[in-house]
Amino acid sequence: MTEPYIKDILEASEFIKTQVSEIPDTCLVLGSGLGPLTERVETIKEIPYEAIPHFPKTTVAGHDGKLLVARLSNRLTFIMKGRFHYYEGYSTQEATFYVRVMAKLGVKNLIMTNAAGGINKNMNPSELMVITDHIGLFCDSPLRGGNLDEFGPRFPDQTSVYDKGLRDLLKESASELHIPLHEGVYAYTRGPQYETPAEIRALSVLGADAVGMSTVAEAIAGSHSGLKILAVSCITNFAAGISGQPLSHEEVMKNANASSKNSIALMEKFFSKL
Ligand code: HPA
Repeated sequence: MTEPYIKDILEASEFIKTQVSEIPDTCLVLGSGLGPLTERVETIKEIPYEAIPHFPKTTVAGHDGKLLVARLSNRLTFIMKGRFHYYEGYSTQEATFYVRVMAKLGVKNLIMTNAAGGINKNMNPSELMVITDHIGLFCDSPLRGGNLDEFGPRFPDQTSVYDKGLRDLLKESASELHIPLHEGVYAYTRGPQYETPAEIRALSVLGADAVGMSTVAEAIAGSHSGLKILAVSCITNFAAGISGQPLSHEEVMKNANASSKNSIALMEKFFSKL
């Protein structure tokens, strides 16, 4: 499977090159609630995912499927409006295909945002958390199968997946804006069902501060490709069993939207410093 996968990566990246005159060095992936950010950027090019060879299609409401080349705070960046999740039926190789394409294009920074349930009781819905590390024990590795030697080694180190320099820059941005920013460990679950209270207790014992259904496979593929990674979670709900209330996608979207002003301001500030 390695050969066709690499060929597909190459075809997708060659296609994108024909669409843009300058290749950005950064890719920002918009999670729930950050969609409106695209109204505040100067869009140079908009490429629907369907137009890109071998790109999967997004299937989740609230996740558009477009790749933008845009200026955010005057800095040229790719923006992924919509991403691909394992729970949609994609393999982790498919869900991280775009990460490899970005690496092939020469992108250096992968900035991801997501929605997550808060396990650490110090965090409240609609607050933000920068991810310091992850627990991906339940994540099918996107590196399974033949190794993509041209991207990275067979057994890559995972000691510092999330770049310290980028995290510090984000913290500095948050503090200048007086936006509270937690730091913590993100645990991946496959979804699409939310966790049970027993699963959340187990994840808490394992050291997780937040839980979500994205980001980890992308961070693994990205770090394998040598990308610098930053990921920010919007805490959209108390994780299962913490408040005693049932969880719903509506609550997640409501709190993601409630935090979008802060998330957008934070990203704008961060990009102005990047
Ligand atoms: N669990 C998993 N994924 C999520 C959650 C959650 O509680 N909230 C938002 N995404």
